Amino acid sequence: MYINKNIPNFDSVATDVLIVGVSKNQNNMANWDQFIEFFGQPIEQWIKDGDIQTTAKAITKIPVYSSKAKVKRLLFVGLGNRKTLTPDTLREAFGLVGKTLQKTRKVSMTLWVDSFETEEIPASDAVIMAAEGIMMGAYTVENYKTTSNVAEVALEEVNFITHQDIEEIAAGFEVGEIYATAVNEARSLINKPGNMLTSSKLAEYAVELAKQYDFEVEILDKAQLEELGMGAILAVNKGSKEEPRMITLKYQGAENWEDVIGFVGKGVTFDTGGYSIKSKAGLVGMKGDMGGAAAVLGAMRIIGELRPNKNVMGVIGSTDNMISGGAFKPDDVITTYSGKTIEILNTDAEGRLVLADAVTYAKQQGANYLIDLATLTGGVITALGYDKTGALTNNQEFFDAFLKASAETGEFVWQLPLTENDKKRIRKSDIADLNNSPGSDGHMIFGGGFVGEFVGDTPWIHLDIAGTSDALSDYDLGPKGGTGVMVRTLATFVERLTQEDLK
Ligand code: BES
Ligand code: ZN
Ligand code: ZN
Repeated sequence: MYINKNIPNFDSVATDVLIVGVSKNQNNMANWDQFIEFFGQPIEQWIKDGDIQTTAKAITKIPVYSSKAKVKRLLFVGLGNRKTLTPDTLREAFGLVGKTLQKTRKVSMTLWVDSFETEEIPASDAVIMAAEGIMMGAYTVENYKTTSNVAEVALEEVNFITHQDIEEIAAGFEVGEIYATAVNEARSLINKPGNMLTSSKLAEYAVELAKQYDFEVEILDKAQLEELGMGAILAVNKGSKEEPRMITLKYQGAENWEDVIGFVGKGVTFDTGGYSIKSKAGLVGMKGDMGGAAAVLGAMRIIGELRPNKNVMGVIGSTDNMISGGAFKPDDVITTYSGKTIEILNTDAEGRLVLADAVTYAKQQGANYLIDLATLTGGVITALGYDKTGALTNNQEFFDAFLKASAETGEFVWQLPLTENDKKRIRKSDIADLNNSPGSDGHMIFGGGFVGEFVGDTPWIHLDIAGTSDALSDYDLGPKGGTGVMVRTLATFVERLTQEDLK
């Protein structure tokens, strides 16, 4: 999007839509009188009558009829009470602005930045929320309809009306745009049908990303995985005609390759459940079983753009989980890359197997801190619903630092316990070191806890995004489908991390 760094006035700006924040206590806002006077319409009366709504997240669009204005429409964004407005609500309000702009095909917008300022939220932050919200809200899912005549509409230009330092405002908008673009990229990966996004295609995407941002990249193919003895990802892949891939990206932002934060993603491009086959209804949507991988790639994109002085590694284990004469079965015993053996009790508990090898590989490649992300269990949805990511950790301080980032991005994360008794049940097998499905209770804990068996003492956070990675219906910040959850939180976490957190 073209960011105009000249600051126009109400009378000089030529734009499809001028975006204005309105609240109950509007009166003392700078420039308000000039605004009212210039547009000459009975705006204050309309606010009083409720025709322009000030309730939080209410959107009101009106045409401009003044002959001197080069603004075609005013779009009012309700902020409720400015004193209690939270950044999350502001971001969501901008999400609805994005949806409106998308629907009405507005390509040039002007943000009256100062009209969104509150005591708590400075204009320099509000403009980040604006870019994030508008661009995430305006996202649409790619379709393959032959009859589609709806042209893609991109937001082409943004102007700012502000008293603030324009460089700072423009830089804030750019950061928000970088975040939203990465989220939208992750969404598009999740939304891609399984026949179009195979493991090798996902690997090609990662290679492109690496080229764009100068990451070190390594793609291990099936023969190499066999050579290395990655028996867990290979077991999941056994029923498939598609080759698996182990994808590694490395970004070195610090002088030495130390204190490396490793993101590890589940990249199951389609999960049939294998011989422990899913129900007809359960199969639909399983193209999204690579949401963890998408989150890793999205976060790496932001890191590539913003280039923090930290070291970050992304590891993605990718395969589909299919059925054939060669597929793995319940009762099989497999040997992981770590050497640990696993008794397979359920072939639908495949994500933890893929992650077992991916986590071991990330450690072997030098990750000192681990965050794994996966659409791992239906159990997390039973426990927490569709709007919360479930978490486990072996290091409370590390997790608490992560929670701060999640509070900033508004992506809700809730920690569950992982007890010695849980671990005992994961380790219970007569014939192997571990079993991959300890029971019909506590699915999320067993799934994540299983991954923890391969982590050792490395500080680790497990994020089960099975509920949050795919939205069942439209929401303020985006459409039904892939959400790109955790992209923003992972990147924010890396940006905010201090040496203190890494002790
Ligand atoms: N990919 C699924 C989890 C999932 C469910 C993701 C619903 C998104 C929406 C995972 O591989 C799976 O099937 N997990 C099983 C584990 C069980 C067999 C131990 C589950 O949660 O039922
Ligand atoms: Zn499964
Ligand atoms: Zn799965």
